[in-house]
Amino acid sequence: MVCRWHDAGTYDVNTKTGGPNGSIRMKEEYSHGSNNGLKIAIDFCEEIKSKHPKITYADLYQLAGVVAVEVTGGPTVDFVPGRKDSKISPKEGRLPNATKGVTHLRDIFYRMGLSDKDIVALSGGHTLGRAHPERSGFDGPWTKEPLKFDNSYFVELLKGESEGLLKLPTDNALLDDPEFRRYVELYAKDEDAFFKDYAVSHKKLSELGFVPGSSGSKPVVKDSAILAQSAVGVAVAAAVVVLTYLYEVRKRMK
Ligand code: HEM
Repeated sequence: MVCRWHDAGTYDVNTKTGGPNGSIRMKEEYSHGSNNGLKIAIDFCEEIKSKHPKITYADLYQLAGVVAVEVTGGPTVDFVPGRKDSKISPKEGRLPNATKGVTHLRDIFYRMGLSDKDIVALSGGHTLGRAHPERSGFDGPWTKEPLKFDNSYFVELLKGESEGLLKLPTDNALLDDPEFRRYVELYAKDEDAFFKDYAVSHKKLSELGFVPGSSGSKPVVKDSAILAQSAVGVAVAAAVVVLTYLYEVRKRMK
């Protein structure tokens, strides 16, 4: 989940560089401060890649994100394969800095070509998982059930400080701006609206700089059946990896 966001979130709409292209597997990029701890998830994905070498890293990371959302109870995000891999890592500093506020969030997400609605819906991804002091310096989950994808991130955000739950400065920034806050309030009271918007924003993020069907390697009909079969294999393997990962997270939280 974080892998796919950190791979895609480097996109620059003006220079058309970065984006979901698998470059996060390169040491140069996963060593960036904002990617601390991601090597674990990259290694999990490597196991799948060795069993299903046909899928690109870029597709694999995005597929793992889609599977993670679905198996934890979130919406089904449409997945279209065909992303190409790149070994070129963008310079450090393209991902958001959690200690900053409204202007920074807009600077970073607008650079990707995303909107205010995308910023709020995607921040709802913090319904899953937790922060680790040894990785980011922050500590704790955002919700009481961090293995469940639901709208509780927004409910908790509106409640304010709560014992044991985390709020990053960038999370609180969503309350400071009237345009952002409008969506926070909507998603806190209407989970269906959150799921619908999240699925759209997740797909957008996962396809930054990628026009489906433009890879020049459209499979012929015979090959598509084989590809479909291996996509199912990969999805199942990805689900297993994601569940193993979430199990580890749960174990560490006990
Ligand atoms: C809006 C700007 C964002 C900022 C500043 C931000 C920042 C952070 C930070 C500091 C952590 C803790 C890392 C650690 O200590 O392990 C984290 C974790 C996480 N983020 Fe974000 N994030 C942002 C957006 C997103 C988006 C768009 C998604 C996905 C849609 C996402 C999904 C996650 C998940 C699932 C975790 C938990 C990882 C784990 O359990 O190991 N974040 N984020």
